[in-house]
Amino acid sequence: SSSWILDASINGDGSRLYQQDPIKRSDFPHGFLFGAATSAYQIEGAYLEDGKSLSNWDEFCHTKGCAEDGENGDVADDHYHLFMQDIEMMHSVGLKAYRFSISWSRILPKGRFGEVNPLGIMFYNKIIDNLILKGIEPFVTIHHNDLPLELEERYGSWLDPQMQDDFVHFAETCFKSFGDRVKYWVTINEPNLVSEMGYERGDYPPNHCSQPFGNCLAGNSDVEPLFAMHNMLLAHGKAAKLYHDKFQATQGGLIGLVAHCFMYEPLTDSYLDQKAAERAMLFNVVMREYHGNDLPTFSSDEKEFMKNSIDFIGINHYSAIYAKDCTNSSCTDSSNRAIKGFVEITGERNGVLIGDPTSMPRFFVVPRGMEEIVNYFKNRYNNTPMFITENGYSSPNVQDVQVEEILNDFKRIEFHQTYLASLAEAIRNGADVRGYFVWSLMDNYEWAQGYNIRFGLHYVDRETFDRVPKLSARWYQEFLKDNSLVN
Ligand code: NOJ
Repeated sequence: SSSWILDASINGDGSRLYQQDPIKRSDFPHGFLFGAATSAYQIEGAYLEDGKSLSNWDEFCHTKGCAEDGENGDVADDHYHLFMQDIEMMHSVGLKAYRFSISWSRILPKGRFGEVNPLGIMFYNKIIDNLILKGIEPFVTIHHNDLPLELEERYGSWLDPQMQDDFVHFAETCFKSFGDRVKYWVTINEPNLVSEMGYERGDYPPNHCSQPFGNCLAGNSDVEPLFAMHNMLLAHGKAAKLYHDKFQATQGGLIGLVAHCFMYEPLTDSYLDQKAAERAMLFNVVMREYHGNDLPTFSSDEKEFMKNSIDFIGINHYSAIYAKDCTNSSCTDSSNRAIKGFVEITGERNGVLIGDPTSMPRFFVVPRGMEEIVNYFKNRYNNTPMFITENGYSSPNVQDVQVEEILNDFKRIEFHQTYLASLAEAIRNGADVRGYFVWSLMDNYEWAQGYNIRFGLHYVDRETFDRVPKLSARWYQEFLKDNSLVN
């Protein structure tokens, strides 16, 4: 179903790739921030250098085997040493913004129970300063999965309300150190996924699960994900309040939260499946109706500052999936483990997949989902400004294909073109979306899935750490120039 034709033969230098280009930079508003995203643990490596302490992920990977093949982020993409080259690479693609995260254990090795590590601050200063020199807007995620092990060991991190103060301390350290130059802050990346993966599925540290399977730490109560989520939300709210009260007037930036957002479509037209899809959508954002008394409560004070805690909504969107009611049947509990609220999810309807599969389980290529999810947020949250903080395509596993094939990533190009076209449609219809970040700048450590899942615009050789632009990097470069050489 390609709507463009590759014609790389016109110029040997990779320009003029397409005879027909369905979506253009100029289909987006002026000043729209186009970028790419990464996160600290997934790319930095240098896990014990220059005063960094162990993080929860370092420990999880070393002791439990975090990814199936035992791979970990000790070295990752060695970005800690290669960041200048990486910034050069962003510049040559023509990125307007770069979304990255701060390693908590690099700048506060013992959380709030120790000193700030000046070498950690220096590292991010160098990144930020060099981005700005190249005209690239730094878009900073304060917390993206990795946190100081100290906080896990002291009190179980997100299960304890004390963690809120720790996060606020971390966020304040970031505002003070970097806020003169950083104008976009994300407090926490995907709290909804972290609570599920860490406390229900056991795929992320601290490896807890509500039902025993694999090697996770079974026997923890069903409410853990709810408490973890509650503490993350309050941590976000308190940090945002601090930013709004003490920093925003002088630093002039915006602060928001990023959610992991599938678009759920009802499996059938039945009333029950429609309700199931609605419930699944709500689990991206609200849960009270379905958990009632299990849920921790917010004080009226907390409600107030939570309400005003968002300058923008960050949407990580990859896929749409079908939702099937299972109030009257048993919910699937295998790889598609049921999510709370009696919803079973599946990519298949009458033997037909919702979209092309990718190498990520449960991620299908469904471009219409982008417009749908944006409209969902637009309607539900009164068109609060939005950023697509992640969107990307994972290629087939390296073992299955040649490097050549990985570099000629036509499918990734088509993915971005079609998702962008869908996003442009939502924007034309009034959605206030202000930026779009490709996940990811380069292949990196995909958490429990290791290095075989490759989302990058650039290929990373696991032995030499060479970065090689894939065809998609060239496509993005042409797109961003907005003179796609197409007549
Ligand atoms: C969401 C996460 O923020 C990121 O860390 C991850 O690599 C991508 N999605 C792809 O799964």
